Amino acid sequence: MMYAMDRSSQRTLESPDYKKMTDREHSSSTICSPRLNSSSYSHPVIPNMVVTIGLYNHNGMIGSQILKHLLTRAQQGSIRLVVLHRRTSNTNSIPEHANIEKRVVDLETPDKKLNEKSVKGIHVLISAASNKDRIGRAELVETLASSDDLITFVPTDYGLVWTNYLPKWLNLGFVKGKAMLDERAKSLGINLTNFRSGCQTPWMFTRDHGDFGINVKGNYLIRYGDTMQKRLPITSPAWLGEKVAEIVSSHDPHQLADRSFSLVETWATGNEIKEAFTRIHGKEPAVQEIDEQHFQEKMDKGISESMGAGIWLKWRDNNWEFDGEMINGTRSVEELAREQL
Ligand SMILES: NC(=O)c1ccc[n+]([C@@H]2O[C@H](COP(=O)([O-])OP(=O)(O)OC[C@H]3O[C@@H](n4cnc5c(N)ncnc54)[C@H](OP(=O)(O)O)[C@@H]3O)[C@@H](O)[C@H]2O)c1
Repeated sequence: MMYAMDRSSQRTLESPDYKKMTDREHSSSTICSPRLNSSSYSHPVIPNMVVTIGLYNHNGMIGSQILKHLLTRAQQGSIRLVVLHRRTSNTNSIPEHANIEKRVVDLETPDKKLNEKSVKGIHVLISAASNKDRIGRAELVETLASSDDLITFVPTDYGLVWTNYLPKWLNLGFVKGKAMLDERAKSLGINLTNFRSGCQTPWMFTRDHGDFGINVKGNYLIRYGDTMQKRLPITSPAWLGEKVAEIVSSHDPHQLADRSFSLVETWATGNEIKEAFTRIHGKEPAVQEIDEQHFQEKMDKGISESMGAGIWLKWRDNNWEFDGEMINGTRSVEELAREQL
């Protein structure tokens, strides 16, 4: 894709301390308000330019899916791809190609000079940083503030939206941390493009990740209030990665700035999940009724359990809060569940 590049923005290079915070500290702190630098600048219009897309954390569950599709597009010549990686990252999945570049970043130390050099020329930077990568995620935002080339930044989100929800979940370190980093990026004059996601299939169908209560192998699901009649948003990492790569590569980056996309591959009620499991196993799944005591116990446990309880509540209340443009896929809940057997 060829585009003319032009952008104006306001920035500050003041560095906040929140990247060093623990989960507990995240939950008890407030967003620092950085000084705004009054100087603004604009970028020259560069006609007929192939867009350069950067990707950080190409080995993660989501990042590896995005990578696959960006590689194809770079090999076809429709984009240039720069993979930003840690010194220790495995880069075997990245082929040698004229349109594909690997660059080291050291966000942890951090090596600011190296990092600033590494983001040069990148017009859209997609982060798929892990929740474990708290320091890297924050330092990446600071690094991007130095770039004259960046048009928009895709922060690592790919999750549900919790902005108007109960403090209990807003205070979860990784939910609050993401919101704080978005605020920090905006205060630095960085345009954001956010991708939201439904509940991701490896987590919601299989892992007893604090046991969300729906398990395709175990053939059971929960019912909380009238969730049998209410819809749950579901997304596979493979489809999410494909859509993120497609949307980012097929738009003029200027058109992506300050936009959100909600990627929900399919919606399914509790009854539709029950019917899908029945077809898969040839017998009805066990349905466990969740009462208020059970809900409260789950909510009072650790992060994963509490997040699961929050999703039960969103599901019961049909309160998903998705923002921006809603994009749905074509696969059924049964197909997505079968993939996780
Ligand atoms: N909606 C949902 O249900 C859902 C589910 C899962 C995730 N998500 C979201 O998706 C986003 C990406 O998460 P993910 O699960 O795809 O990531 P991930 O799989 O946890 O990423 C793993 C990679 O992160 C790097 N890494 C691991 N520990 C690190 C550390 N301490 N510091 C720096 N890098 C480290 C490693 O890469 P290298 O060794 O190659 O550097 C590793 O291969 C997150 O924002 C997450 O919240 C949403």
